[in-house]
Amino acid sequence: MDIKSLIRNIPDFPKPGIMFRDITTLLQNPDGLRGVIDLMAAVCAPLQPDYILGMESRGFIFGTPLAYKLGVGFIPVRKPGKLPGAVYSVEYELEYGTDRLEMHQDALKEGDRVLIVDDLIATGGTAQAAAKMVQQAGAELVGFCFVVELLALGGREKLPNVPIISMVEY
Ligand code: PRP
Ligand code: HPA
Repeated sequence: MDIKSLIRNIPDFPKPGIMFRDITTLLQNPDGLRGVIDLMAAVCAPLQPDYILGMESRGFIFGTPLAYKLGVGFIPVRKPGKLPGAVYSVEYELEYGTDRLEMHQDALKEGDRVLIVDDLIATGGTAQAAAKMVQQAGAELVGFCFVVELLALGGREKLPNVPIISMVEY
């Protein structure tokens, strides 16, 4: 399946000069949606995760069906103030300013094998923040899986030394 052909390129979004890789056209295509989840499952299964951890909001779109397909649980990492229980909270850098991600403290325990999933890695700040929370919980990070990797931004350099898998690269 040609995943790239199902991802739409929108120039000058959200700002002039940026080429936005739009995954909504991939999601909308029945064969595309099934095909990308099946491919992610095939390449990620050997990492033997106990949990898929996905970041709000587009990480939820791919992370939950992947967890279903692999027969494991899903852990949501959310924007601040959304989770009701005690949370780990990690601040990360944006282009202008900072943001924060949160995860329930009791979502993971020591030794749990965790695979972090998101639609896209750009600067790597989001994935790095998620990895820090896995570490804080004492769980074992077994890898990362992204649908899209924007190579020029070098996001993977920020991430710990575990397998980093992406379905398509730009
Ligand atoms: C996007 C994308 C990744 C992140 C990647 O999410 O879904 O999570 O940016 O960028 P980075 O590698 O530079 O951190 P966004 O924060 O726009 O939120 P959304 O999923 O709610 O649209
Ligand atoms: N597409 C989608 N999300 C993004 C992009 C992109 O090109 N860059 C940063 N977040």
